[in-house]
Amino acid sequence: MDFIEWDDSLSVKVNEIDDQHKQLIRLINELYKAKKEGRDKNFLLPILDELINYSFVHFTTEEKYFIRFRYPETEKHQRAHSGFVDKVTDFKEAYYDGSATLSDDLLEFLKDWLINHIKGEDRKYIDFFQKKGLK
Ligand code: FEO
Repeated sequence: MDFIEWDDSLSVKVNEIDDQHKQLIRLINELYKAKKEGRDKNFLLPILDELINYSFVHFTTEEKYFIRFRYPETEKHQRAHSGFVDKVTDFKEAYYDGSATLSDDLLEFLKDWLINHIKGEDRKYIDFFQKKGLK
């Protein structure tokens, strides 16, 4: 069983965005699995890099639609995105220079943040995007 399992309760009813969320889940699961297998930093850092880069790609996609459709909660949602990227980037730098370890707490944070964000902030745009014809 994976660390995070996708199910329909995570769907935001837009295929492109659901696919991106699945990719983020896949990367967090990869990180979890690699840690459990006792992989070293040289193995874990590229996964962490990919997670940061792909988060950026995903957030940019949502924000592109926010701007295109003038989504009223754009600023608040963007702040949540930047907070996540800043936190994970800070961690990656500390991990890289040896002042932090990849802890279970960090993995739990990644899991909880993503699930809570999808079921909280992301879910709020479902009706709005559907009214704009996004599928
Ligand atoms: Fe799917 Fe707002 O991140």
